[in-house]
Amino acid sequence: MSGKHPIPIMSSFESKVREALANPKNQGEIPDADAVGTVGSPECGDMLRMWLKFTEKDGRRVIDRASFQAFGCQTAIAVASMATELLRGKTAEEAGKMSAGELAGDLGALPPMKIHCGQLVEGALRNALENSPSDMTPQGNVANTLSADMARKPAGSIRIVPLD
Ligand code: FES
Repeated sequence: MSGKHPIPIMSSFESKVREALANPKNQGEIPDADAVGTVGSPECGDMLRMWLKFTEKDGRRVIDRASFQAFGCQTAIAVASMATELLRGKTAEEAGKMSAGELAGDLGALPPMKIHCGQLVEGALRNALENSPSDMTPQGNVANTLSADMARKPAGSIRIVPLD
């Protein structure tokens, strides 16, 4: 070791978050979604919205697609990216039982300071499931983008993270 160019030590969690952020999955609204959920974190003011689209598979109503938009930190985006992949094929009941830790999947255990970031994703999912109709009729305004709603309301102390 020369010691001239020390390599910063990055935790495995941080490197997995960076990996997820390099190629985030399922960002943006699903225009014909069956359900949408939005939550804001009282801890930091960040917001996350999740859309769910269901389909019938082998006689079960399962999540076909899940997507999200976030005005939030990198961890929330990474967890939402992971969660929207993991939700595919799950029934509403199965999805509703998933904890923030489970939704984080391969990212692993969230550091104590980041637990609320995972809970933001869990909260948006639960909110969407509560708004999920028992039939598959699309709801009136489920396609509203988070940015459109934010434009109508004063942003206050919410930190804006630009999305693609
Ligand atoms: Fe607010 Fe992560 S710091 S969701």
